Amino acid sequence: MSALKTRMYKTSDLNSCRDLWIELTEHHRQIYNSSGIGGDNPGLFFDRHLEKVGAERIWVVEDEGQVIGMAALVLNDDEVEIEPFVVRSEWRGKGIGQKLMETLVSEVRRLGVRYICVRPVARNREAADFFFKSGFDILGHIQMLMDLSSDGVGKWEEGPTLFNRSFRV
Ligand SMILES: CC(C)(COP(=O)(O)OP(=O)(O)OC[C@H]1O[C@@H](n2cnc3c(N)ncnc32)[C@H](O)[C@@H]1OP(=O)(O)O)[C@@H](O)C(=O)NCCC(=O)NCCS
Repeated sequence: MSALKTRMYKTSDLNSCRDLWIELTEHHRQIYNSSGIGGDNPGLFFDRHLEKVGAERIWVVEDEGQVIGMAALVLNDDEVEIEPFVVRSEWRGKGIGQKLMETLVSEVRRLGVRYICVRPVARNREAADFFFKSGFDILGHIQMLMDLSSDGVGKWEEGPTLFNRSFRV
């Protein structure tokens, strides 16, 4: 990890960032046990995101020329959302996410925006742990879902308790 550095996205990162988006999709496929998430070519979601947020809002972590983490800032009126946020699977748990988060927080401070938000899916307990440890300890909105599908039974897992109510995730 000697040459670890965080920097803004550049055009030559395109394939690495598509691969990271694929890894992010794979993570969601695993936690929901659903191979259909993200469709046939999940890497192309990165291209759409790039078009939406702009290259100057995407940050990567690089180790000896290899992109091992990626995150983007989505600017809204009074807050900035971090979406996505992903570290290559073999590099997780080594402080890469923390380093990337420090860069993003500095950038949002520089932009002069007060709030930063993250919206991990509720089943992504590891991401929630990571974000909480990174300083996201305030709950904003709570998105509550009702499943109208007939095959919904058994699909959802036991989730957290909030306001004395047991939620599924
Ligand atoms: C979540 C993620 C970005 C964290 O990145 P990382 O590089 O592994 O995290 P770090 O090594 O910098 O860890 C920073 C802190 O978070 C904690 N943390 C990281 N992953 C964790 C996990 N799976 N479970 C519990 N805590 C975790 C670490 O213990 C560390 O805390 P510490 O300083 O007290 O030891 C990474 O695991 C990932 O890419 N996950 C898949 C994609 C994803 O879910 N993204 C978020 C939703 S978009």
